[in-house]
Amino acid sequence: MKKVLITGGAGFLGSSLAQGMLDRGMSVALVDNLSTGDLRKIPQHEHARFIKCDVNKYNDIASVITSQKFDYVFHYAAVVGVKRTLERPVSVLEDIHGIENMLNLCKNTGVKRFFFTSSSEVYGEPVEFPQNEETTPLNSRLPYAIVKNVGEAFCRSYYQEYGLPYTVLRFFNTYGPKQSVDFVMSKFIKAALANRPLTIYGDGSQTRTFCFVKNNVEAIIKCLEEGIYVNDVVNVGSDQSISILQLAQKIIEIAQSKSIIEFLPPLKEGDMTRRKPDITKMSRLIKNFTSLEEGVRQIIESDIFYQLNNIDKAKTLFPV
Ligand SMILES: NC(=O)c1ccc[n+]([C@@H]2O[C@H](COP(=O)([O-])OP(=O)(O)OC[C@H]3O[C@@H](n4cnc5c(N)ncnc54)[C@H](O)[C@@H]3O)[C@@H](O)[C@H]2O)c1
Repeated sequence: MKKVLITGGAGFLGSSLAQGMLDRGMSVALVDNLSTGDLRKIPQHEHARFIKCDVNKYNDIASVITSQKFDYVFHYAAVVGVKRTLERPVSVLEDIHGIENMLNLCKNTGVKRFFFTSSSEVYGEPVEFPQNEETTPLNSRLPYAIVKNVGEAFCRSYYQEYGLPYTVLRFFNTYGPKQSVDFVMSKFIKAALANRPLTIYGDGSQTRTFCFVKNNVEAIIKCLEEGIYVNDVVNVGSDQSISILQLAQKIIEIAQSKSIIEFLPPLKEGDMTRRKPDITKMSRLIKNFTSLEEGVRQIIESDIFYQLNNIDKAKTLFPV
C-alpha cells in the first residue's frame, strides 16, 4: 500500500486529493495547522490519519516525517487567498521555512517523489497566452507568487544536489464543494443561493479559467501512478476562459437565483486581467474535463458545501 503525506490536508485541495487517494487504496496522513483548514473536510476512512502540526516549525513536522516512512509527499500547506496574502505578506514569506523543512526531511527519509503546489501566480501579470511551462517567462512580484517561485527553485535544487525527485504542480483556479467562500466561485454560489447580490471588483471583464476539483485530483493521481512529469513542471487547470461577469450571470442562472450583480472599485493589486494555461502537458494526464455548468451543479447538489457554510440545504433549494 502506498503511504502518502499531504500537508494542508484539512484544506480544500489537500482533503480532496486525500479522498481520491483513499479511493485508490492508498494510506494517507494529513497534517494541517487548521489556520484556514476545517476538520470537516478530512475524509473519514480507516486509512486516513490527521495530525495537527505547523509545517513552518521544524520540530513539529520533523516528528511526523521521521516517525514513519512516506513514499510520496504532497506539500499543499500555504497561506492562500488574494486578500489574505496581500494583508499578511510576512506570514506568506514564512512559508519558505515550511518548504525548506519539508525538503530537508524528505531528502533523508526515502521519499520517492515530492510534489509541490505552485500557482499560476508565478506567471504574474501576463506577458503571453496561453501560459506555457517552459516558454512563458515567470513574472512574480507579490510575496505569494515569489514564495511559489522560490519553492519551485528549492525543488529543482534539492533534486540537483540531493537527488530528491519532484514534480511542480502549477495550479490555475480550481473550484469544488469544499472550497472556502474566500474564493470567487464559492462566494458567488453562496450569495446566489441566498438571493443576495454577487459583488464584482472592477467591471468584471477580467477572465479566468476554472478547473473542477475532480479533474485536478484525477490528473495528479495519474501523474503519481504512472510516473509522469518526474523532475518537471505541469500546469494543472482548464483552458476554457470566462469573464468574471459572465461567471456571475451563469451562476445566477444555474442556481435559479434572484440575485443582482453589484460592481465595486477594482482591487489595487493582485487581480490579474487574464489567466489561461497551456494545457498540452495536462492533457496527457486527463482527457475529459468537467464543464463549468456541471461543476457548479455538483456543488449546488453536494451536502458538504452547505455544511461548511452553515446553510440549511432544504430551506435554500426548496424555500417555503
Ligand atoms: N485552489 C486553487 O485554485 C489554487 C490555485 C493555485 C495554487 N493553489 C495552491 O494549492 C494549495 C492548496 O490550496 P487550497 O485551495 O486547498 O487552500 P486551503 O486554504 O483550503 O488549504 C491550505 C491548507 O493549508 C493549511 N496551512 C496553512 N499554513 C500551514 C502551515 N504552516 N502548517 C500546516 N498547515 C498549514 C491551512 O490550514 C489549510 O487547511 C496551496 O499551496 C495553494 O497555494 C491553489
